[in-house]
Amino acid sequence: MKAIVYERVGGSDVLRLVERMEPEPGPGQVRVRIAVSGVNPTDWKARRGALGSSLPPTGLVPNQDGAGTVDAVGEGVDPARVGQRVWIWEAAWQRADGTAQEAVVLPARQAVPLPLDASFDLGASLGIPAMTAHRALTVHPDGPSVLGPSALAGRTVLVAGGAGAVGHAAIELARWAGANVVSTVSSPQKAALASAAGAHHVINYRTPDAAEAIRKTAPDGVDIVVEVDPIVNAELNQQVIAPNGVVTIYADTSGSQLTVPLRPHMFANTRLQFVLVYTMPDAAKRQAVGDVNAAVAAGALRAGEDAGLPVHRFPLTETAAAHDAVEGGAVGKVLIDIHHDEQPEPPTSQ
Ligand SMILES: NC(=O)c1ccc[n+]([C@@H]2O[C@H](COP(=O)([O-])OP(=O)(O)OC[C@H]3O[C@@H](n4cnc5c(N)ncnc54)[C@H](OP(=O)(O)O)[C@@H]3O)[C@@H](O)[C@H]2O)c1
Repeated sequence: MKAIVYERVGGSDVLRLVERMEPEPGPGQVRVRIAVSGVNPTDWKARRGALGSSLPPTGLVPNQDGAGTVDAVGEGVDPARVGQRVWIWEAAWQRADGTAQEAVVLPARQAVPLPLDASFDLGASLGIPAMTAHRALTVHPDGPSVLGPSALAGRTVLVAGGAGAVGHAAIELARWAGANVVSTVSSPQKAALASAAGAHHVINYRTPDAAEAIRKTAPDGVDIVVEVDPIVNAELNQQVIAPNGVVTIYADTSGSQLTVPLRPHMFANTRLQFVLVYTMPDAAKRQAVGDVNAAVAAGALRAGEDAGLPVHRFPLTETAAAHDAVEGGAVGKVLIDIHHDEQPEPPTSQ
């Protein structure tokens, strides 16, 4: 079978197409024939060495997310899973085997049955973005720890960067959970995407009156900020956060050191909460997987331009270009087609 590997960290030119033996699933594992591999910033960052530079001699296959069909199961896994359409999370976290290959073997729980109407494109867009967004919305000390209709009723959620992959998922999940959803963006094009995702209010964070505009949509302040750029938005967040609100920080977009004004945050009892999807508690991962699947089944998580998440496609042989597109700031979702054409899609797809 074909696989993309890298044996040393570096630019996208370290990615090579190789032929490998098809792996057999061991106890508790499934083998998934990959239809679509999803690319996230973490994939090029890991390839550049962000998670360490020592690699196994056989190299690493990149990409955490993907979707496909179970075609073999190991001992202890229900054989009825063969033929099941699934989405994959954390394929390459502390493992050498990501989704940029024709088939991947991984623990059965990391291959989640795709709800009936969900496309492989959507499945390959879920893992990192949707699980991160779920955590950002559920880590609030006053709950909810479970997302579903009405779980965030009466709360205002501010999603910074609503045209980003995580931002998109956060808007959709917060909207599904009944929150008043405000999103910031940097351009009219991105505003259209955030609106298509379901944001009630979209505001350009580069305008001088952004805080005032957000306050108008949430007179009592913002309960949860889902933050992609904590440094640039530090002042804005301080101006709009509600008493006992939480700023959930999942990225270091503009640098590695954050300075915040202490007194205003102390007076507001603000919580600054950091999130890394890989290391969040196992119970939170289980909850995220379950709630994300419920949101997919309800049609609340979607992919495609109409849903505010334009898709950019590459063949497996152009995985390097797909990584470069994400590193270059492609707007929307970058996907790699592997067995997309051969595999059954649902009758209606998002
Ligand atoms: N901690 C975790 O577990 C975790 C999980 C997933 C992703 N991440 C990290 O999160 C970051 C985003 O990932 P992604 O996949 O969502 O990337 P993406 O699709 O490229 O989206 C990033 C978005 O952030 C926006 N943005 C940048 N600066 C902003 C600002 N000051 N205010 C508001 N929006 C701003 C960008 O648009 P404009 O520049 O036009 O504003 C863009 O729409 C990456 O650094 C990634 O590595 C972390």
